[in-house]
Amino acid sequence: MARVIAIASGKGGTGKTTVTANLGIALARLGKKVLLIDADVAMANLSLILGMQSSPITLHDVLLGEAQVHDAVYDGPEGVKFIPSGLSLDNYKRVDSERLLGIVSQLNEQYDYILLDVAAGIEKNVLSALSASQETVLVTMPTSPAIADALKTKIVAQRLGSKVIGVVINFVMNENGEITKNDISSMLELPVYGSVPYDPEVRKSFMQEKVSPVIVRKPDCPASVELTKVASRLSGIKVGDSPSSSKKGFLAKLFSIFRKK
Ligand SMILES: Nc1ncnc2c1ncn2[C@@H]1O[C@H](COP(=O)(O)OP(=O)(O)OP(=O)(O)O)[C@@H](O)[C@H]1O
Ligand SMILES: [Mg+2]
Repeated sequence: MARVIAIASGKGGTGKTTVTANLGIALARLGKKVLLIDADVAMANLSLILGMQSSPITLHDVLLGEAQVHDAVYDGPEGVKFIPSGLSLDNYKRVDSERLLGIVSQLNEQYDYILLDVAAGIEKNVLSALSASQETVLVTMPTSPAIADALKTKIVAQRLGSKVIGVVINFVMNENGEITKNDISSMLELPVYGSVPYDPEVRKSFMQEKVSPVIVRKPDCPASVELTKVASRLSGIKVGDSPSSSKKGFLAKLFSIFRKK
């Protein structure tokens, strides 16, 4: 059974799509089977961040009942699968987003994680995405309007039965006067899964001839490193459990057995 997690914020432009794409890849690197769904049916752009181009069958077609969900699943970077949303405004007006829950449950068995890239606001499509998820991770900037909207989203998600498990703070500048991680954590009453810095490499990922998420293009840049930590905290898997470090872990266990005797 997959963990179905909505990535939401209330406020627009906080980095939901960026977090969804890069977190998905980071989870895949930890050995997880990951599906990303572009649940932003009005302003779809997960495909753009993933660097994927043509997708003849989209979530729109599935929500309209005109295609099977399995035909809308595409291969993304590093083994991640994804379902893009359509770009047609006419189809967007006709889609029934309430079908999302049924669509997600058809896919549940095949993945460890299903991440939903949720739209901004609290319109019907957002409510459908939150209802289709069991858990929600909020993305906020360290600014009061963004935190206020995140709080609103937290309340809505809880009312819809999605457990809000943590917050990712994005665009962190570490400037004087910036709202701190501890303050955000206590305002939202949530653990902080990561403080992702403002990092020009994130934007540069769009400027390449072939677009690819920052974690693929620059795995060692500050934003990628922090997003990798988010995956680790979310999954409970330690990053850097390389064969040599697991050997160390094995030896440590062995010694502890000897010490007990
Ligand atoms: N940590 C970061 N550092 C620098 N730029 C970033 C960072 N995170 C996101 N961005 C940039 O900010 C812009 C908005 O990010 P993104 O599209 O992920 O936000 P969003 O919350 O999904 O927006 P929307 O509400 O419109 O769906 C993008 O151009 C992205 O490249
Ligand atoms: Mg987005």
